[in-house]
Amino acid sequence: MLHHSNELSVPFLNLKTQYDSIRDEILDAIQRVLESAHFVGGEWVEEFEDAFARYVGARYAIAVGNGTDALQLVLRAWRIGPGDEVIVPANSFFATAEAVSNVGATPVFADVEPQSCHLDSDSAERCITPRTRAIIPVHLYGRAMEMKEIVGLAERKGLAILEDACQAHGARDRGIRVGGAGRPACFSFYPGKNLGAYGDGGAITCDDARLAETLRMLRDHGSPAKYHHAVVGTNSRLDSLQAAVLSVKLRSLDEWNRKRALHAAEYLRGFSRLPAIEGPGLIPPAPAAPSSHNFHLFVMRATERTQLRSFLAERGIESGIHYPTPLHLTPAYRAQGYPGVGSCPVAERLAREVLSLPMFPELTAEQIHRVTATIEEYANRQNDRVPSTHRTQVQTAVA
Ligand SMILES: Cc1ncc(COP(=O)(O)O)c(C=O)c1O
Repeated sequence: MLHHSNELSVPFLNLKTQYDSIRDEILDAIQRVLESAHFVGGEWVEEFEDAFARYVGARYAIAVGNGTDALQLVLRAWRIGPGDEVIVPANSFFATAEAVSNVGATPVFADVEPQSCHLDSDSAERCITPRTRAIIPVHLYGRAMEMKEIVGLAERKGLAILEDACQAHGARDRGIRVGGAGRPACFSFYPGKNLGAYGDGGAITCDDARLAETLRMLRDHGSPAKYHHAVVGTNSRLDSLQAAVLSVKLRSLDEWNRKRALHAAEYLRGFSRLPAIEGPGLIPPAPAAPSSHNFHLFVMRATERTQLRSFLAERGIESGIHYPTPLHLTPAYRAQGYPGVGSCPVAERLAREVLSLPMFPELTAEQIHRVTATIEEYANRQNDRVPSTHRTQVQTAVA
């Protein structure tokens, strides 16, 4: 039962409000594509590729059909396939591993680090075998992963690095935008992403001219020129309508990311007002350096997540779980005989505890306040049930 009326409900994401704020520009861009009658490839896509490459600070951007294809195409370009192993974090969206499987290679799941929730380089190192070809670090939740250690490991072991930047548009690692460090990085423009199309879309950014050329061929039936097929590729092109939409939206990306960061700061201020708690075990996200996090998701932890989630839902506040099952325990990979429970303990614990709060640029101060006030109410109620001697302050670090 909802305790409050609908106006007070807080959605997890609201794409309609964003559309309303850019409606005229979007409709104008769509109309211009329709008038041009260039629906696949051509100027709209090239214009977006140039703008996106410039934005992240890469030499090349190659637009493709979606983020999963972006990952797959780089693996194919590198001729990674059957018999090869690729290390991926156990805490990610399924597509990170799926892309590896789809080229015929074997994903190997490494555990993650509990503060950042990112790939743990010690665990990744333990996963290396003579068959390992590459590592896919994921800039999960939009927080730029600190790449130094994993890059050092890859260099020492002669492995390639493919960055999964599908959630990390605009986030920076030591001042450099994800995708702008020279290594290939894969982006998704799925509608809910910080830079989202009105349908599917994706891109690879890189500095390597030969890789860029190969990717352009692979995404378009292996053809450098019409009806000339140099290699077997696929059809994974970004269509002109999506490219035109993305060009319009790219102009607002920094402003939207700035708003997300302000909302995150507001959530954290709310958390700091939380009373002493024990039972609820609420853990805010670990602090991130300024501009290193685009807050695609605002992920806290709660040891009694189900209770907190229901408490929020009953009061009209939506939340999400990213992700409920670590990749090695998904039925798809369990069926392939992967090591089970206990093989990636941190990722397994995160899967039980993570809770994503509403996050999108157009969230209002009132909505954020409702969320933090409701969590405070929950913490107070839980507190009333534990003896005061057992109470601790809200944890500021992850156990
Ligand atoms: C971390 C991560 N990797 C890969 C993908 C795949 O992207 P897409 O859905 O565009 O195929 C996504 C997004 O859905 C993602 O969040």
